Amino acid sequence: MKHGVEDGLLPIETPRLLIRSLLPADVPSLVALWMDPEVTRHMGGPRDPAKVRDALESELKADAPDPFDLHPVIEKASGRIVGDCGLLWKEVDGRSEVEVVYVFAADVWGQGYATEAASAVRDAAVHRLGIRRLIALIDPENTASARVAEKIEMRRERSTVRPGGGIRLIYAYEVPPSPSP
Ligand SMILES: CC(C)(COP(=O)(O)OP(=O)(O)OC[C@H]1O[C@@H](n2cnc3c(N)ncnc32)[C@H](O)[C@@H]1OP(=O)(O)O)[C@@H](O)C(=O)NCCC(=O)NCCS
Repeated sequence: MKHGVEDGLLPIETPRLLIRSLLPADVPSLVALWMDPEVTRHMGGPRDPAKVRDALESELKADAPDPFDLHPVIEKASGRIVGDCGLLWKEVDGRSEVEVVYVFAADVWGQGYATEAASAVRDAAVHRLGIRRLIALIDPENTASARVAEKIEMRRERSTVRPGGGIRLIYAYEVPPSPSP
């Protein structure tokens, strides 16, 4: 059994949410999420459903889930997939960075889910994977996402131009160096 095998980052459980590795039954909900124009407005627009499905199918065939990927977020009360969240490697101005990504279905916005999931992903990245610096790349018009970044203690650093030409604000969280003995 390849999936259901957790990856060092997962599972991540919060009071209301569970972030776990991908299962075959998750595919339709995730395809619907990434096709939604409202959800993807500040993230490059709706994705081609066939491409999303193919990417998820190949993820399901991998020997083990990749910690640097997005993972389904389950609302514990309903068992429903309400989001896709995780860590991605990004090259930003010549530097390799780890981005925290949070994407939620529009009908659950405004309940604190993104903050709850993203802060748990941040903590798992730091404590389980030993990552010392995390970023978020945020469309300047995506005020809700910027607010989530602030609420999980990320600080705005500067802006950057992405390879496609879009401007993104860089928010960053850095683990303070441990005091020398
Ligand atoms: C951004 C997103 C993840 C937020 O999810 P959420 O579960 O609603 O977030 P939370 O409820 O944890 O927090 C949202 C915060 O933004 C605030 N907010 C929401 N819409 C806002 C707006 N238009 N302007 C200003 N603030 C806004 C909320 O009031 C809340 O802050 P508060 O707790 O201080 O009141 C969600 O809107 C989403 O999935 N958007 C589409 C995908 C996306 O853009 N992801 C980010 C990629 S960088």
